[in-house]
This record gives sequence, C-alpha cells and structure tokens, in this order.
Amino acid sequence: MIELIDVHKSFGKKEVLRGVNLKVVSGECLVILGRSGTGKSVLLKHIVGLIQPNRGKVIVDGVDINRISEARLYEIRRNIGFVFQGGALFDSMDVFTNVAMPLIENKNFSYKEIEDRVMHVLDLVDLQDAAFLMPSELSGGMRKRVAIARALVAQPGYILYDEPTTGLDPIISDRINDLMIELNSQLGVTSVVVTHDIHSALRIADRIVLLSNGVIKVNTKRSDVWDVDDPEFRDFLRVFKALKEIE
Ligand SMILES: Nc1ncnc2c1ncn2[C@@H]1O[C@H](COP(=O)(O)OP(=O)(O)OP(=O)(O)O)[C@@H](O)[C@H]1O
Ligand SMILES: [Mg+2]
Repeated sequence: MIELIDVHKSFGKKEVLRGVNLKVVSGECLVILGRSGTGKSVLLKHIVGLIQPNRGKVIVDGVDINRISEARLYEIRRNIGFVFQGGALFDSMDVFTNVAMPLIENKNFSYKEIEDRVMHVLDLVDLQDAAFLMPSELSGGMRKRVAIARALVAQPGYILYDEPTTGLDPIISDRINDLMIELNSQLGVTSVVVTHDIHSALRIADRIVLLSNGVIKVNTKRSDVWDVDDPEFRDFLRVFKALKEIE
C-alpha cells in the first residue's frame, strides 16, 4: 500500500502541494486528474523518493521512505515501475537496452532471461520490431511505449504512469488503456495513473481523485463519478460528455 500523509512541497515561494492525503490500496488502479501545473508529476515523484516533502510522510509498504537508507530505498524502488511523462529514455542506447536497464541494474538475470523478458514486454506494447532502433528514430508515441515496456520489465508490484496516453493516437491510446487494465486485473499490479485524459480515466480507474490547489479535492469510486458535485471535476466530465455526443 502507498500512503501520503499531509504532504507539503514548495519550490522557493511556490507552494505546490499543501497537505496531500492519499491512500492507494493494493491491487487498485487509482487515477489522479488535475489541471496542468497543479503538481501531479511532483506528487508521483514523491512516491519513489525522487522528491522529498517539506512536511508530511510518504509511506510505501509500511515504511516512511524518507527515513530509510539509500540501499533500502533502492530495494523499495525496485518494486515500482515509473513511466515518466517525457519517457526519459537514454538517448545513446537502443530500445532493447533502454528496456533492459532495470534488469541489468538488478544483476540477478542471465542474458537469456533478459532477452526473453525484454522481447516479451516489447511485444505487449507492440514494438517487437523496434528493439534495435535508437530513441532518436522513434515517434513520440513509440517513445512512450518504450517507457511503459521499461516500467513493466522487472514485473513490479506498483506501476506509476505519468500521462501514459497523452499525445498518442486514439488507437494506440486504447491499446495502452487495455494493457493497464490487464496488468491490473490479471497480474494484480497496483497502478497510479496521472492523466488529463478523462476518457482514459473513466475506462481504467477503480478510483479517481482530483488534485487542485495543492490538495486532493475529490476522491471518488469510478462508479460514483456522476454524483460528484465539485464544479472543477464536473468540467472534466463535461469534456467527456461532449466527446461522447460527437461520437
Ligand atoms: N524540480 C522542480 N523545481 C522547481 N519547481 C518545480 C520542480 N518540479 C516541478 N516544479 C513546479 O511545480 C509545479 C507543478 O509541476 P508538475 O510538473 O507537478 O505539474 P503537473 O500537474 O504534472 O503539470 P502537467 O499536467 O503540465 O504535466 C509547476 O509550477 C512546476 O514549475
Ligand atoms: Mg506532469
């Protein structure tokens, strides 16, 4: 389980998180919605200790990750796949090596195991033919799928996705949505997905929260979204409805 307790974070004078309280229950898919610049990526980075709070706690599997040794934090991170918003690929390495990185760092895998696992996850994201391309040779959507493959390859218990479908064409988007649902339901992966994409949110989420002005303003089960009366949340839903009407 992941828990953020009263997390505050400022950069200089700018207060980004002002007391975030959030629980991610084991096995669920939690979607974090929020306008651009509200601190969604900052929140996600707190969960892996890439950013430390000024105040408050981040608990992963029962431990406060800001009160443990580097070595212990590294252990915890090994169980968390992170899909960065921009992909964060190593530009000097081909797709295969980028995806293999978490396994190479782990040192417990033979070359054959690495090859099998990498080709398997590339297959899942439909990139089996791109293994030996360099990041500069990929489209934006392909880069994102490489980032997803890398997050999956070590079979982590948690996967954090930062805008996994933003900027992808609708067909690839849907495939990524399906993949997230599958990992969740079949492998029991706990997922946290940051997105503006309300369409994707409504497909994949067990629960949806809205980050606004540095706090979690709405926290609702997927099945109850139409009963939420928060105006900002309803604005997101309105976009969805408008899209449905066009369809
Ligand atoms: N390392 C950092 N140093 C200073 N300011 C930062 C840092 N990271 C984020 N910020 C600031 O924190 C705020 C929230 O940024 P964040 O990237 O979390 O937004 P977001 O909700 O993910 O937006 P988007 O939807 O556009 O990705 C922004 O004002 C940003 O400038
Ligand atoms: Mg972001």
